[in-house]
Amino acid sequence: MKKIIYSLMRPGLFKLPPETAHHFTLNTLEILYRLKLAPFLVDIIPAHPCHLMGLDFPNPIGLAAGLDKNARYINSLALLGCGFIEVGTVTPRSQPGNPLPRLFRLPAAQALINRMGFNNDGIDNLLANVKKAHFKGILGINIGKNFDTPLPQALGDYLICLHKIYAYADYITINISSPNTPGLRQLQQAKELAQLLSGLKQAQQQLAQQHKKYVPLVIKIAPDLSITELTTIAEQLLKYQIEGVIATNTTLSRCGVENLPHAQEAGGLSGAPLSARATEVVAQLYHLLGDQIPIIAAGGVMSVADAQAKWQAGARLIQVYTGLIYQGPTLIKELAEASSSILEANVYEH
Ligand SMILES: Cc1cc2nc3c(=O)[nH]c(=O)nc-3n(C[C@H](O)[C@H](O)[C@H](O)COP(=O)(O)O)c2cc1C
Repeated sequence: MKKIIYSLMRPGLFKLPPETAHHFTLNTLEILYRLKLAPFLVDIIPAHPCHLMGLDFPNPIGLAAGLDKNARYINSLALLGCGFIEVGTVTPRSQPGNPLPRLFRLPAAQALINRMGFNNDGIDNLLANVKKAHFKGILGINIGKNFDTPLPQALGDYLICLHKIYAYADYITINISSPNTPGLRQLQQAKELAQLLSGLKQAQQQLAQQHKKYVPLVIKIAPDLSITELTTIAEQLLKYQIEGVIATNTTLSRCGVENLPHAQEAGGLSGAPLSARATEVVAQLYHLLGDQIPIIAAGGVMSVADAQAKWQAGARLIQVYTGLIYQGPTLIKELAEASSSILEANVYEH
């Protein structure tokens, strides 16, 4: 039924500018939540608990970062039935992001291009929203640096966010892979990454003692890395005992969409054209990390078959963003249901 409702709504939503449609959808969901219409919306999702990074995930399907940058919609997004929600990216100070338009649809390819540029209301605002939320699943908070913080001072920005949110997050994602903050991806290079991870790990240990709570750190990486770069990253993740890795963020590649309207807009491409490359990165990472560090797969999960490919490549959890825009909210239920049967049938090739 909900699938039919979304397929009826989608043409109307797609007539709106993408960012307007985004806010309209989230605000509608929030109103339905506040009107206590939740019982009509909540999908009963079969429990498929997974224990990873010391956390109990109700099911392995999550919402990727960027959908709820200020943690304003946690309660209503929880209605979709996901096992975990990642909010952010949040930066120490609020910032407006790039000028509009900065989000583009490529419907023929089931893709988006965005150059949002970490538009967000700052860490204090996010924290206030997180404190008000009632979400019972796993909450990840994704942190970044302000656009005007020079790269050598990036660690300082991550530390400000880490200290403020530590007590309220189930896990914390360090975003070093957005293509829309100039220089950010440089933090994936050996020297910069070592400095960053060493500083964050020290802070995590001190905060764990202070709060008597251990919050895992997860690093989010780009799909546009060579195998040499990936190998170096994997070595550093192991060396600094990072608890998880998200593969991947959006891509700078335009492979497969070159001739479509908007394809030449600056920004990161997500959705179906990213799927194969993101899965390849998961497989390469799994080859390097084995079961030592869990891989959270993101990038072009538009269907159960896409999720299956990620699991077979070595992923333990899956995140969606663009798939939700094109397939509607029932995608979460379909993926969660499929995850039970796929994982129980032991489809892992590893
Ligand atoms: C509009 C938009 C905004 C995004 N913002 C963020 C962000 O703030 N932080 C982040 O780590 N990833 C962000 N992402 C990347 C997604 O979390 C995800 O990694 C990527 O889109 C690939 O997954 P998908 O193909 O399912 O969308 C954003 C993606 C989109 C489409």
